[in-house]
Amino acid sequence: MPNLLHLDASARRTSISRELSGVFADAWRAEHPDGGYVYRDLAAEPVPFIGEAWTELCDLVLARLLPAGPGSIDLDRLPELVNSPAQQAAWAIVEPLLREVRAADVVLIGTPMYNYSIPAALKAWLDQITFPRMSLAPSRFVVTSARGGAYSPGAPKAIYDYQERYLRDFFAGHFAVEDTAFVHAELANSRQDPGLAHLRDQHDASYAAALEAARRLGKEY
Ligand SMILES: Cc1cc2nc3c(=O)[nH]c(=O)nc-3n(C[C@H](O)[C@H](O)[C@H](O)COP(=O)(O)O)c2cc1C
Repeated sequence: MPNLLHLDASARRTSISRELSGVFADAWRAEHPDGGYVYRDLAAEPVPFIGEAWTELCDLVLARLLPAGPGSIDLDRLPELVNSPAQQAAWAIVEPLLREVRAADVVLIGTPMYNYSIPAALKAWLDQITFPRMSLAPSRFVVTSARGGAYSPGAPKAIYDYQERYLRDFFAGHFAVEDTAFVHAELANSRQDPGLAHLRDQHDASYAAALEAARRLGKEY
């Protein structure tokens, strides 16, 4: 029975990235009626920032769990590192988040671009669940995103895309997940900014294509 972990990170309730992730999730759940489904709204119920006790756990991973050669740490051994009350409190936050993501065959992330990158709410989740030399493969990751501008290859601002590039590189480098899929609805600011009104048609086309891609991927995954 496959499991889907669905995260949303937009600060807006009515949000394009939420709509796209919802379309993917609906299609996926229709294809997997017996599949498991866990939903987390990282904006409405934020994951706390990591604190000092979390960094102690990280140092203990480095000291005790790294394999001698290449390869990943054994995540099942994390609980044996937890000792002080502060570390136990830190672990109480990490443990359910890590359990959810490890159980997921598909991790679906609905996220806006904020300031050329990802919202702090999503970064806080990543900081909590990431330990040195860990692997989340063979999970598959799908990101549905909305951006105010255009960052596709060839766009003048393409080099400022630290959202897709960051997530793609992070999942590959830290989680050994190489094939993250991205669905972007671009030029969303043309809805509000009169200076971008001439790009509204391009936004509408990007949005429609993203909805279709999210539906198709939800069926495929
Ligand atoms: C705090 C904030 C920062 C933003 N920064 C950018 C940005 O750097 N580049 C961009 O293209 N759009 C930016 N936007 C626009 C959003 O990406 C756009 O509104 C998108 O639709 C938000 O996703 P959502 O509809 O899922 O909330 C920003 C919006 C907010 C609220």
